[in-house]
Amino acid sequence: MECVKTLFLLCSSLLLTTVTSQHNVCSRPDLKGHIELSGTQRFFSPGVELPLSCQQGYTPISGPRKIVCTVSGEWSKTKFECIPKRCPYPEPISNGELLYEDTIYQSTINYTCNEGYILTGPMSAVCQANGTWSTPPPICIPVSCGLAPIPEFGMVIYERRVRGNTTDYGLTAKYTCLPPFALFGKPTAQCTAEGTWTETPECREVTCPPPDNIERGYMSNNERRDFDYMERVKYDCRGNYVLEGNVEVVCQENGRWSDLPSCKAPCTVGIQRGRILYKEQKIWIGDFEPNVVLHKETVSVYCMDKDRKCGYALSTQCIDGTLKIPECFEEPSLADYTLHPSSLPSEIEQC
Ligand SMILES: *[C@@H]1O[C@H](CO)[C@@H](O)[C@H](O)[C@H]1NC(C)=O
Ligand SMILES: *[C@@H]1O[C@H](CO)[C@@H](O)[C@H](O)[C@H]1NC(C)=O
Ligand SMILES: *[C@@H]1O[C@H](CO)[C@@H](O)[C@H](O)[C@H]1NC(C)=O
Repeated sequence: MECVKTLFLLCSSLLLTTVTSQHNVCSRPDLKGHIELSGTQRFFSPGVELPLSCQQGYTPISGPRKIVCTVSGEWSKTKFECIPKRCPYPEPISNGELLYEDTIYQSTINYTCNEGYILTGPMSAVCQANGTWSTPPPICIPVSCGLAPIPEFGMVIYERRVRGNTTDYGLTAKYTCLPPFALFGKPTAQCTAEGTWTETPECREVTCPPPDNIERGYMSNNERRDFDYMERVKYDCRGNYVLEGNVEVVCQENGRWSDLPSCKAPCTVGIQRGRILYKEQKIWIGDFEPNVVLHKETVSVYCMDKDRKCGYALSTQCIDGTLKIPECFEEPSLADYTLHPSSLPSEIEQC
């Protein structure tokens, strides 16, 4: 009986030993946060120390750098942490921009150049494990165009001085054509961000047919030939006709002459008896020799204010041969005109 009891104790203690020995190993820890373990061992006995390190691109901070397998089969606690390495803040680049969200390990900087500049070098850089950027920044080189194309029979004038065979982005060139050639298209071109010039205008020969004469007028040039672009002809009127419009017409780039002037007729003052006011002079109509008023000139006749018994002058203008006599004018009788001229509206007290 004693023996059985002892055996039981022995057996149970043996059993216990086997069970606890299984509990008292630590299995390989599952570490997060970029912490690294060396080796590949899967189980560790109590008392074993395991050194910790950080993955490439990460730096250790705080806490002991090792964990210990305890008798209870658990690893000791640690505040050990790995934080990503930081690359230096990138310098701005001239005539370009950089885009980045962070400057830690594996961050990317993207580079772009402003319009009119070409990126030379890498377009992006990555923050490497050792805390340096993978590439130096690129440079932005201004776009350049060749010289602006010159149309045949034309000239180009640059807005700024041009050196050598290249022109900078944004430069403006102004075109002119040598007469008798006229410019067709836009008179200016620009060096674009693509390094090419905008459209070049053309210089085309332009002529006008011989100009027409105008009625009652004459021209400075009566040649019956084609006239060149920008050639000019002058006009004037005969006698007492007055020129209205431009004295000079020009052969335009559409092959037509600019608007021709015209000659406007003079007027006669259509009254028999009375006095007129012309160029600030009071003249009896009989003395107004010759009876001619030019186009656009004004003349006044005298009217009577019957209520107030006074006279007043009213002016009228000659328009291309027509001079309207104001309605208030009354032609005096021959008797009044010759015998009582002092009673006429031009002679009595003025209103
Ligand atoms: C950089 O460019 C890449 C590719 O175009 C893009 O996927 C990424 O989001 C960009 N990064 C930033 C910070 O703009
Ligand atoms: C950083 O790492 C890169 C790539 O591995 C290497 O080319 C460079 O020389 C390293 N720079 C420094 C300062 O160690
Ligand atoms: C301009 O271009 C011409 C022809 O391509 C070349 O012969 C000349 O040397 C260039 N001049 C300059 C200043 O670059």
